Amino acid sequence: MDLTDRPRRLRTDGVRPLVSETDLAASDLIAPVFVDATTDERVAIESMPGHERVPVEEAAARVAEVRETGVEAIIVFGIPESKDAVGSRAYAEDGVVQRAVRDVAAETDAYVITDVCLCEYTDHGHCGVVEEGAAEDPTLTVRNDETLELLERTAVSHAEAGADMVAPSSMTDGMVGAIREGLDGAGFEGVPIMSYAAKYESAFYGPFRDAADGAPAFGDRRHYQMNPANGREALRETRLDVEQGADVLMVKPALPYLDVVSAVRREFDHPVAAYNVSGEYAMLHAAADRGWLDLEAVAHESLVSIKRAGADLILTYFAEDVAESL
Ligand code: PBG
Repeated sequence: MDLTDRPRRLRTDGVRPLVSETDLAASDLIAPVFVDATTDERVAIESMPGHERVPVEEAAARVAEVRETGVEAIIVFGIPESKDAVGSRAYAEDGVVQRAVRDVAAETDAYVITDVCLCEYTDHGHCGVVEEGAAEDPTLTVRNDETLELLERTAVSHAEAGADMVAPSSMTDGMVGAIREGLDGAGFEGVPIMSYAAKYESAFYGPFRDAADGAPAFGDRRHYQMNPANGREALRETRLDVEQGADVLMVKPALPYLDVVSAVRREFDHPVAAYNVSGEYAMLHAAADRGWLDLEAVAHESLVSIKRAGADLILTYFAEDVAESL
């Protein structure tokens, strides 16, 4: 038996940290924050233990709590006071995200990212303007080019409110280019775009749709979000976003799509983000509740694995808990 090569030599307590290939730091993490214009008190999100929708008045206090854990960046999602066919509260100057971001920018030192999408703001719950008759006919879907103008307005209104970065998540063709043009035209050349470049039509978003009240009233998102069966197409999607000026490239969800994270990492030199989504969070909590998994250990292992696959930054509902345990 030839045992000259013994990997176990590098697993003693003294050397194990020295040869560790992957580090996880609070500065890698982005914490989602939900701001709700329909409530004047904090409301717990049942399927996402530890997370809540907060009223606009509490947005800065909520973000201050995140900052105390060492997490430096947040992504803001809004639940508007009312919805309509075009999602007009998404780009209103006094919209829920715009008001919250103004307060958070004034009162905290957090790096503020905003999710740019229409699904929480449209009465039909789709991520853009839908074709007439779409409620009855499942072959009809979101009108791509008309949606672009609304996304552009939304992104500019977020920047005007003080957002440091915008993150379009609608999977509309051309969204990054339209938003880049809008931001530049309004004098926000310095505001970067983190594109949800490869966003899949995933059943792992279930708990989020409860949290943000953005489930489609009819149909699903398979005509704009990516087919989970497709890996090569993710590179094509990502390449288009790079050409249109994306600064950070996101893959979403994270754990079931680590092959995609790894492929995007190898193909592009831009920073890569991965979104460890609501369902990934909820399932670990549910198993831990039954005593089947050690929550702190599996949360940490999940995030280390996402980084090992090639992500530089991670959007995660575990941000605060993991940052505190590091
Ligand atoms: C909005 C948006 C969604 C998520 C982030 N931005 C929902 C969706 O596309 O259905 C999901 C986040 C999560 O599940 O944690 N388009």
